[in-house]
Amino acid sequence: MQDENNEFMEQVQLAVETIHASRHCTGFTGAGISVESGIPPFRGDNGLWSKYDPMVLDLSYFHRNPEESWKVIKEIFYTFFGKAQPNAAHTLLAKMEQQGMLNAVITQNIDTLHHQAGSRNVIEYHGSSRKLVCTSCGRETEPTEEVLKGSPPRCDCGGVWKPDFIFFGESIPSEALAQSQYEAEHCDCMILIGTTGEVYPAATVPQKASAHRATIIEINPSPSLYTDQITDIFIQAEAVKAGKALQKKLFA
Ligand code: APR
Repeated sequence: MQDENNEFMEQVQLAVETIHASRHCTGFTGAGISVESGIPPFRGDNGLWSKYDPMVLDLSYFHRNPEESWKVIKEIFYTFFGKAQPNAAHTLLAKMEQQGMLNAVITQNIDTLHHQAGSRNVIEYHGSSRKLVCTSCGRETEPTEEVLKGSPPRCDCGGVWKPDFIFFGESIPSEALAQSQYEAEHCDCMILIGTTGEVYPAATVPQKASAHRATIIEINPSPSLYTDQITDIFIQAEAVKAGKALQKKLFA
């Protein structure tokens, strides 16, 4: 236990020194950063995909079965996510940006918690849940209770609303792709929080950063696909524990 704590503090110290020495640091986050905000991850025993069929987020399935897909989308992404609050790991990244220690956060999450924590330069690699787009006329709207009432929710033109995050079978938004590419090529430090490295093309972002010689700091309670491949400093802990320890040392 004592050894584990010493190892944890050593890695935190190394991360702090790396961040202080960095000229351009970028965050890269996955579902794990929001677990302690009450949002379950996708994979693993208690993951969303053990309860729901990922098929509901397949684009062609959604077009064929909008009512069924929307039932699950509402349950997961609006009723449930809607209540979540940012935690110490989200605020760490927001504070770092405010203090000029972080250039951007690239997130695979669609939960908007980075914005809620105060981060400004957030690259939403998979889009976000804060907007709906009409599949027929292309109009955009906010997912208010009123709009979400329908089953499936429909635009005035009769088209079905679709959340503005990407479904399986859709491409990464081009602006997010270009901005992430830029970050990966220009950062000298990348902080990965709560991500498996199993989902492509997102996983290529930290790989590219490492290939461009960025130091990779990883926070995750369990080793990921990145840990042995590209991670330089592994803080083996939950996001909140690591986030609090880093905040204490970085802003002391
Ligand atoms: N703190 C930090 N990391 C955690 C925590 C925690 N409290 N709890 C779990 N994790 C880690 C897990 O060990 C795992 O590595 O977070 C990761 C969660 O894995 P996934 O749910 O697979 O999330 P992610 O890799 O972000 O998935 C990416 O998958 O289905 C798609 O589009 C979806 O954006 C999502 C993508």
